[in-house]
Amino acid sequence: LTEPFLAGRSVLITAGPTREFWDPVRFLSNRSSGKMGYALAAAVAEAGAQVTLISGPVALDVPPGVHRIQVESAQQMCDATLAQVAVMDILIACAAVADYRPTKQAAQKIKKTDQGLTLALERTTDILEQLANLADKPFIVGFAAETERLEINAYRKLKLKGLDMIAANWVQGGQGFEADDNALTVLWPGGKVELPRTSKTQLARALIKLIAEYYHAKGSA
Ligand code: C5P
Repeated sequence: LTEPFLAGRSVLITAGPTREFWDPVRFLSNRSSGKMGYALAAAVAEAGAQVTLISGPVALDVPPGVHRIQVESAQQMCDATLAQVAVMDILIACAAVADYRPTKQAAQKIKKTDQGLTLALERTTDILEQLANLADKPFIVGFAAETERLEINAYRKLKLKGLDMIAANWVQGGQGFEADDNALTVLWPGGKVELPRTSKTQLARALIKLIAEYYHAKGSA
């Protein structure tokens, strides 16, 4: 059994994909299964913290002791995160939030014609960028799923989004999305750890240990 090294802390985790509807039955989304975020929620609960999990649509059970808030769109995930963040000690943003959404959502199902169809897209709000300027921020951990230049891209996001830590993983060759195992490169200002490939359950426990270590170190600095 894990020690309760996060006892008395409140931790917010975002997980899964978002859905961006363009009519009542059709949406844009991505390959996120939510497995990593749910494994993190379970590991944080094991470590003794109060866990709130803001989740996009996934086919996973809520881990024991975890409070889940279900959302669909990037905007709903943003609103739920902003509503919760003030009382949190740590935020782990594991969700694969859509970067673009259709500019219009039709009220009725769009009928097909013989013509092609072009969807116009607009940017969604970047949740972490919204939080960057908060006066009283929690310890924030972001994720970066990359298909190229993993460390350079992750380091740029760490800086741009004002994060305390970022966990980066490759999404290539069956690794990352949907799989039951993964590997992570964890970066923070001035440091780096490689967590080698293992089950998402084990990986989540290792990452939570690392987060707790730097969270406590920052608090006592
Ligand atoms: O820029 P990119 O989407 O790759 O950054 C990934 C990180 O940013 C993840 O932690 C993800 O949850 C977060 N994110 C966000 N809001 C968005 C898009 C991504 O908070 N709209």
